[in-house]
Amino acid sequence: MTAPRLHNLPNYPFADLGKRIQKLNEQGKDVIQLDMGSPDLPPAPAVIDALAKSAARPDRHGYAGYRGTPDFRKAVAKYYQNRFGVEVDSNREVLPLLGSKEGIVNLTLAMIGPGDVALVPSIAYPAYAMGTLLAEGTVFEMPLLAENKFLPVFSDIPTDVLEKAKLLWVNYPNNPTAAFCDLNFYEEAVAFCREHNILLCSDNAYIEVTFDGLSHAPSALQIAGAKDVTVEFISTSKSYNMAGWRLGAAVGNEAALDALLKVKSNVDSGHFHSIYDAGIVAFETTTQEWLDERNACYARRRDKILSVLSQLRLEVDEPPKGSLYVWARVVGMSDTEYTEKALLEAGVSITPGSVYGNDGKGYVRISLGISDARLNEAIERLLRLWN
Ligand SMILES: Cc1ncc(COP(=O)(O)O)c(C=O)c1O
Repeated sequence: MTAPRLHNLPNYPFADLGKRIQKLNEQGKDVIQLDMGSPDLPPAPAVIDALAKSAARPDRHGYAGYRGTPDFRKAVAKYYQNRFGVEVDSNREVLPLLGSKEGIVNLTLAMIGPGDVALVPSIAYPAYAMGTLLAEGTVFEMPLLAENKFLPVFSDIPTDVLEKAKLLWVNYPNNPTAAFCDLNFYEEAVAFCREHNILLCSDNAYIEVTFDGLSHAPSALQIAGAKDVTVEFISTSKSYNMAGWRLGAAVGNEAALDALLKVKSNVDSGHFHSIYDAGIVAFETTTQEWLDERNACYARRRDKILSVLSQLRLEVDEPPKGSLYVWARVVGMSDTEYTEKALLEAGVSITPGSVYGNDGKGYVRISLGISDARLNEAIERLLRLWN
């Protein structure tokens, strides 16, 4: 019954995992989820106030427009100016999204068709590859290896692949590896994409989730001329603890955003007006102090995990400097053996690295988006399991 485009599309890994955990819960098992990258802390009070005030207004309940509200787009443009010194035109170079995942998949549908190639990291957030499969395009995996600090090596991509490539995905701070890149890397990526006529897609969902005194991560749009070949995806989900609100934005190349809007305007009709109103407050009023305090909380959880890592039969090369994850190598067994035992014998759900691609084999991803009390309980259970 289903269309051919679904036949090669695997189930979304977290949807399958969610079903399994629901079953375990129904059997009375208490599963602690260290698998989901969903912040456990609330947004700033001013954001919630703005939502409540806006929702109480009678003029906020109709369609808000396919391009979102002008004021929300202006808030995103102002954020780029203030935070990164990047000038973007709020009318032409900012497109609000129903969460960045939606934009990632819909941009792929706009740009990729049968015969086209998307260059996707071999360890990656699944949406880049899933979107490509949905678009009936071809995924070419760029290896992300620990010895290259989980950065792709562009010069290794074969010429015949480059001729068919239309999109190149990068994501730093990275999910799941927690790797960072610097502006030199973005400079190289922009030049490479310009040379080969490829759209650089920078998924920067964790741009504000940085530790150890780092105020934020860099933006690919900081590179001079980047907008000629680049779209960057940002999101309120991890930046401002608003994952369930589903509010993000695509920023950069006008022609790519127009193509994305062509898909979106045939699929969705924008967000609830009040979500945009609250989003403005998030982008315009969130202070560095609020971000630092939130990020320090993640960093404390990271340190707690790292302090017992070897007793958990795990190891890392470097402590993560940001993102919401500890990406650790498993010692003495496969990643799926590790996570299955943790789930079934300790009631702790951890994501096996192989979910993120072949090069993720042998690793696990532990989320920091869980309350201190539940994290402590999970660590105790795992220590009992492995010692
Ligand atoms: C790397 C990365 N990109 C994008 C997203 C999607 O975020 P959202 O759709 O909530 O904006 C996520 C969510 O986990 C992510 O990890």
